[in-house]
Amino acid sequence: MGAHRPDEPTWIEPIHNPYLHGIYAPTLYETHATDLEVEGELPSDLFGAFVRNGPNSVFAPKNLYHWFDGDGMVHAVYFRDGRASYRSRLVRTEGLSDEERHGGSIWPGIMGPFDFSLPRGPIKDTANTDLIFHNGQLLALWYLCGAPHRIDPHTLDTLGIEDFGGKLRTTVSAHPKVDPRTGELVYFTLSDDAPFMRYGVVSADGELAHEIPIELPGPRSPHDLTITENHSIVHDFPLFHDSEILRKSGHRVTRFHRDLPSRFGVVARRGSADSVRWFEFEPGYVLHMVNAWEDGDWITMDGCFQPDPTIVRRAEEGELASMLGYLRIRAHLHRWRMNLATGEAREEPLDDLNVEFCLPDTDLYGARTRYSYHQHLPPDMDTVDFRALVKYDHESGRCQRFDYPAGHYGGESPFARRAGATAEDDGYITSFVSDESGRSQCWVFSALDITKGPIAKVELPTRVPIGFHAKWIPGGRLWKQ
Ligand SMILES: [Fe+2]
Repeated sequence: MGAHRPDEPTWIEPIHNPYLHGIYAPTLYETHATDLEVEGELPSDLFGAFVRNGPNSVFAPKNLYHWFDGDGMVHAVYFRDGRASYRSRLVRTEGLSDEERHGGSIWPGIMGPFDFSLPRGPIKDTANTDLIFHNGQLLALWYLCGAPHRIDPHTLDTLGIEDFGGKLRTTVSAHPKVDPRTGELVYFTLSDDAPFMRYGVVSADGELAHEIPIELPGPRSPHDLTITENHSIVHDFPLFHDSEILRKSGHRVTRFHRDLPSRFGVVARRGSADSVRWFEFEPGYVLHMVNAWEDGDWITMDGCFQPDPTIVRRAEEGELASMLGYLRIRAHLHRWRMNLATGEAREEPLDDLNVEFCLPDTDLYGARTRYSYHQHLPPDMDTVDFRALVKYDHESGRCQRFDYPAGHYGGESPFARRAGATAEDDGYITSFVSDESGRSQCWVFSALDITKGPIAKVELPTRVPIGFHAKWIPGGRLWKQ
């Protein structure tokens, strides 16, 4: 497990769980530093903030620890005039406040056992998964559907829970989409009770404007949704848990039902519940889609498809085998097409490299995109191992790849469009890169050619544990006059 580092909590030491040590170890530090040292030269037109969420457990786990259990922590690198600053802050959820008062963990994590008698439900809403910039603020979101936590994008202080004009009556999943044309926020949420999903639209100024039930055949666990100019696409995959087993045993047992199709439901942006049109495809699972767009009667949607999401357990991993197996993601870039006039459904793989944590230029969500930026994960990895940055050209099928040096690990890498950009990929890619010694940097690539490696490396004052989702906030939106 290595020597103890001063930024790590001492309670991790006796716990044999790879997601609590090394590059995954939680940090005790909440940090602010300006005028960071830079190796290379930061482009003077790199203007905005690179923000990332991720798990960072404050207290020792009550039972087995799953990587998805940690308290949310937001890390941000701000770029302006060729200089960079950094800040990190925990997301101050109500559950974390309860535990601070209690002096330790209250909730077991997602490996259970689920205790339905606990306050606020059987699992803590950690808000650790995703970050969305909408209506001038950041929202921290949880993949199991929770309260959208409002985060000040400058101070990273948790401001409270967003209720969208007092109208939000449900939780919200990770991965809502902000329509760059209208400013609307489009979201879904899940429930173990019928209708099992709800779908909603929040206006650009933060008022819940539309909300409908989406009837699914049972409790499901989709993770993402996509938008086009006029439609939204919700997901129903045959990888799900049995809510009766969960209620009786306290354990969420997820199974892949390979006899059932993958289904995508297309609904007009503010369409009615009875207008959802379902399209069927090969069984499998998708954590993250790249984007979707309209082309005449066709909707095209690209994403990272897992045709066999069966959890491969290694006996020697004992009680952690389910978590470790689930996290060994096997996904490739895939395209689904749906014809709204004929009902025709087509699909095809676009490549076979194992990739996930994909992002296009998010200012083009809902519009045709040619490029996307992914992380390559070796399919036989022991733990989630962001080994290479991959740029796909969805039109030619070609990809560029930059392998992080040995012992260095990246993370989700958003695209920052360059001021005056003349092409879709005319901009920068930012990524946290951490090494095994505890050093973390923020690397900046030219998106035009990532194979040349980073053009600048920003030295961070503290270690950034490997985490989940990242976004780019353009400076013009962040620093409004
Ligand atoms: Fe996600």
